[in-house]
Amino acid sequence: MSENRQMVIGWLMEPAGTHHAGWQVSADQPDTAHDIRHFAKMAQEAEAAKLDFIFQADAASIRPGPIDAVSRQLTYANMLEPFTQMAALSQLTSKIGLVSTACTSFWEPFNLARLASSVDHISGGRFGWNVVTGRHPMAAPNYGHDSIAHSDRYKRAHEFTDVVLGLWDSYEDDAFCRDPQSGHYFDPAKIHPLYHEGEYYKVRGPMPLGRTPQGHPVLVQAGSSGPGKDFAARFGEVIFSINGTVEKAGAFYEDIKGRMAHYGRERDEMRVLSALVVVVRETTQEAIDAFEDMQQRLHPELMKHTVSYDLETDVMDLDIDDYVTVDRLPAEANSSKSGDAVLREWLTQRPMTVRELYFEFCQSRSSKTVHGSPAEVADVMEEWFAAGVTDGFMLMFPLESGMRDFGRLVVPELQRRGLFRQDYEGNTLRDHLGLKRPEWKARPS
Ligand SMILES: Cc1cc2nc3c(=O)[nH]c(=O)nc-3n(C[C@H](O)[C@H](O)[C@H](O)COP(=O)(O)O)c2cc1C
Repeated sequence: MSENRQMVIGWLMEPAGTHHAGWQVSADQPDTAHDIRHFAKMAQEAEAAKLDFIFQADAASIRPGPIDAVSRQLTYANMLEPFTQMAALSQLTSKIGLVSTACTSFWEPFNLARLASSVDHISGGRFGWNVVTGRHPMAAPNYGHDSIAHSDRYKRAHEFTDVVLGLWDSYEDDAFCRDPQSGHYFDPAKIHPLYHEGEYYKVRGPMPLGRTPQGHPVLVQAGSSGPGKDFAARFGEVIFSINGTVEKAGAFYEDIKGRMAHYGRERDEMRVLSALVVVVRETTQEAIDAFEDMQQRLHPELMKHTVSYDLETDVMDLDIDDYVTVDRLPAEANSSKSGDAVLREWLTQRPMTVRELYFEFCQSRSSKTVHGSPAEVADVMEEWFAAGVTDGFMLMFPLESGMRDFGRLVVPELQRRGLFRQDYEGNTLRDHLGLKRPEWKARPS
């Protein structure tokens, strides 16, 4: 590991913060949920703080369940389509990386390959695709499916991603010879149709778009189950890790990097980022008070509904302070195997109330959480980074002001400690991450 290793920092953007009551704070002002100027402001704040990338999650559906509870949340209820959003933001920023989520269970690989490649060109090589297999089952009926089983999702994802990578290499890097002498715009020997016929997809290719400034968009991923980690080890270039302690993060880091050799990859071809929930203010007490103010605004029906959704079991019949026991968990979780494993461990130790589950699990999904002063936040980041259990952090801010607070209070502290860049040194997302541009690869045809 090099002496001057710097952390990678990404941000999971939410227009009003990740806290479920976030939208209520600005309810007397115009709605910003689908206002690109609001997102531009957010992206520019992150760029001023020299972050590696901003990130847009997706579920392609509002949450299922009793409409009275569902209608109390902004998340996934009113949002821009993430690829369109990042294409627009690429024109309103100049350096920061842009990562959008799309689901392999529902999209066609040709659409995905073409859109992602276009956004990578449009942004000058700043785009990444967050490959998800769909933690959110409610999207399936929007695409003509009843549901998609966890085991099948990852099998499909492998084939889907193989096809996408093949389409991204439809042309060799120097295919566009534009030779008036011969009259060839492109060299006929340097275009490569795919002729893919697999278990799930039949795609001829080629894709009518050349390789991008980064070779291809960065592949981002967050699987934590066995099949999820294998997928990550094979394809992932940025991986999100959800772990609440240094020990667990270390075990995950070694596990996932250890799996890479099997796929012929070097450990340095991947950046593992730990999810970190941050509320930062000048003093610890101010941070605690700011968060507590939000907690007071939560409606019990919303909390019960979120617990039902995240535990994949209906607890709407319980009161908010009733206990949930381990036997209420489903025999087999389908949404997130890794989330289910955490819950099973906790509830086996002791029953927890619905309220506790909402606070302890749903609000962070068991990620490390810091509510504190700039030094306290920087201390946690430094401790994890120095321990070698992470290459950086995926930030989530419950408060709408989160990015501004972090940029103003924590980034200078990280820079002072020599842990984070003073300025961008390159132009592409790969440059920021220190990842090599992938070579063009011939596929068997
Ligand atoms: C920071 C972060 C962001 C995520 N964003 C999404 C998302 O936008 N859409 C989605 O379906 N899943 C998302 N996930 C969930 C993962 O894709 C994955 O399903 C989850 O980590 C469980 O892994 P498993 O499927 O291997 O059990 C995200 C996970 C993390 C840690």
